[in-house]
Amino acid sequence: MKAEELRITIYSYENTTELPGIGAELIRLAKEATKKAWAPYSQFRVGAALELENGEIITGNNQENIAFPSGLCAERVALFYAGSQHPGVAIKRIALAAYADGRFVAKPVYPCGDCRQVLLEHENRVKQPVEVIMYGEDEIKLVKSVSDLLPLPFDYNLTP
Ligand code: THU
Repeated sequence: MKAEELRITIYSYENTTELPGIGAELIRLAKEATKKAWAPYSQFRVGAALELENGEIITGNNQENIAFPSGLCAERVALFYAGSQHPGVAIKRIALAAYADGRFVAKPVYPCGDCRQVLLEHENRVKQPVEVIMYGEDEIKLVKSVSDLLPLPFDYNLTP
């Protein structure tokens, strides 16, 4: 038997002004985007804001449906819109925020497994890391690459 240990790095911040680049602005926009979420079933409003390499900023929010699996997370709404409007343009960073019970959540929201997989495929495709910033009222977390959130992704060799 052999054991392998994987190493990931997660950065913590107390307030948005310490974030790199336009991180603080992305958080502001992600919080703003929660207001336009369609989340009547979960009452959990998620907002995402991403910065593209060409300077464009794109926001998204969760869109639910009464047929539960038919909805989509905020991250993928933003990501797929970015892909449809700016094909091949790298995402530099993405910020997330969530609003529930009349306030922004205290602990940072991490992307779900599906969104991690989709983000990671983008990262691999553009061959540069995507920074992910996760907002909570009490603390903010940041990873410099999606591979820190999903160290063992599904993949195979026929990826276009
Ligand atoms: N949700 C997101 O928008 N992003 C995530 O990473 C996890 C969950 C949404 C899906 C659903 O509309 C609501 O949050 C509750 O799960």
